[in-house]
Amino acid sequence: MRSLRLVFLGFGHVGRELARLLLAREAWLAERGLRFLVVGVSTGSRGLRADPEGLDLDALLNQPWSPLRPLTRVAGAAPEERAALIANAEADIVVEMTPLRVDLRGEPAIGHARMALEAGKHVVSANKGPVAWAYRQLDDLARREGRRFLFESAVMDGTPLFSLARRTLAGCRVLGCRGILNTTTNYVLGRLLEGQDLEGAVREAQEAGFAEADPSLDLDGWDAAVKLTCLANALMGRNLVPEEVLRQGIRDLSPEDLLREAKRGRAIRLVAEVSSSGPAQVGPVILSADDLLARASGTSSVITLTTDLMGLLSIFEHSPGLGQTAYGVFRDLLEIADQD
Ligand SMILES: NC(=O)c1ccc[n+]([C@@H]2O[C@H](COP(=O)([O-])OP(=O)(O)OC[C@H]3O[C@@H](n4cnc5c(N)ncnc54)[C@H](OP(=O)(O)O)[C@@H]3O)[C@@H](O)[C@H]2O)c1
Repeated sequence: MRSLRLVFLGFGHVGRELARLLLAREAWLAERGLRFLVVGVSTGSRGLRADPEGLDLDALLNQPWSPLRPLTRVAGAAPEERAALIANAEADIVVEMTPLRVDLRGEPAIGHARMALEAGKHVVSANKGPVAWAYRQLDDLARREGRRFLFESAVMDGTPLFSLARRTLAGCRVLGCRGILNTTTNYVLGRLLEGQDLEGAVREAQEAGFAEADPSLDLDGWDAAVKLTCLANALMGRNLVPEEVLRQGIRDLSPEDLLREAKRGRAIRLVAEVSSSGPAQVGPVILSADDLLARASGTSSVITLTTDLMGLLSIFEHSPGLGQTAYGVFRDLLEIADQD
C-alpha cells in the first residue's frame, strides 16, 4: 500500500467535503494500492492539528475539536505555526483551501503555495488567488522543483477544464473563452426575477455555501474576473492580473430590467470573456434565448472555449455543489499519485 501524505490548509466547506470524499473512496483507493493520509489541518480561527500517523478524519468531521486522539498535537493558529506545518510536516501534497482574498491580491494563499513548493511538496489549490495573481511564478517554481501545481477546482467547481486542455486537448491551442463563471450572480439574477430582493438572494447563496464570505466579491464581478484571469493565464499563456479585467458587476440591475428582457425572450447574465490577445471583460450582457449562455440558470455555469484545432467546445455544468469542488481536488490528488 502506497501512502500519500496531505496537509489541508483550511477546513471549511471544501475541506470538510474533501475529507468526506476521502472517507467515501477509502476502499476504492485501497483496491488500487493507494492511501491518502491527512497529517495536518490548519484553520484560521480554530487552530491547527497535526499527526504524523494520520489524523482521524471521522473525528475531525464529527467531534468538537478538543477531544481528539492523544497523539494529536493542538496548537494555535499563528501564521508562524502554519508556516512550520507547511514547511516541516512530513507531507507530499499541500492542499490550499483558505478563502480567496482579493484585497490581499491572493495572499496569504500565494505564500502558502510558494512555501510548500520550496519545501518539495506538490500543491493542489481550490483557491483561485494563487492562479490569478501568481500562476507563472508558481508554475515555474513547481517545474524547477519537479513538483506539480494543480488547481482544477479553482474555476467551475471541479469541472474538468484545466486537465481537459492539458491532457485531452494536447497540441490544440485555446484561443479564447466566453462563459458564465460566477454561480452566485447567476443565482441572484434568477431570484430577483422571481421577486426576491438582493440581500435575501445573497443570504440564500451564502447559506447554501456557494457564495464567497464577502458577497461583494461576487456581486461586483471580482470572482468572475479572478476566474477569467486563471483561464487566460493557464490556458492561453497570458500574463494578466484580475485588476486588468474590465469589470462591471450586477448591483445596478433592477428586477424591472430583468423582467423587461424576459418578456422579450432574452436573459441578462454576468458574462466573462477573454481571448489570447484582446481585452478581458466581465459584465452584464443581454443574451438572446438561443445563446447557450442564456440557458445557464440558477447555480449552473457554462463555458465555450475557442480552439484552433477543435473549433468551439462548450461545457455546461448543471447545478454543481460542493461535491464537484471536492472531486476536482480529489482528481488533482490522483493525478499527482499517478505520476509519483
Ligand atoms: N465553496 C465552494 O463552492 C467553492 C468552489 C470552488 C472553489 N472554492 C474555493 O475554495 C476555498 C475554500 O472555500 P470554502 O467554501 O471551503 O471556504 P470556507 O468555508 O470559508 O473555509 C475556509 C477555511 O479556511 C480557513 N482559513 C481562513 N484563513 C486561513 C488562513 N490564513 N490559513 C489557514 N486557514 C485559513 C477557515 O478557518 P475557520 O474554520 O477558522 O474559519 C476555514 O477553515 C476558497 O478559496 C474558495 O474560493 C470554493
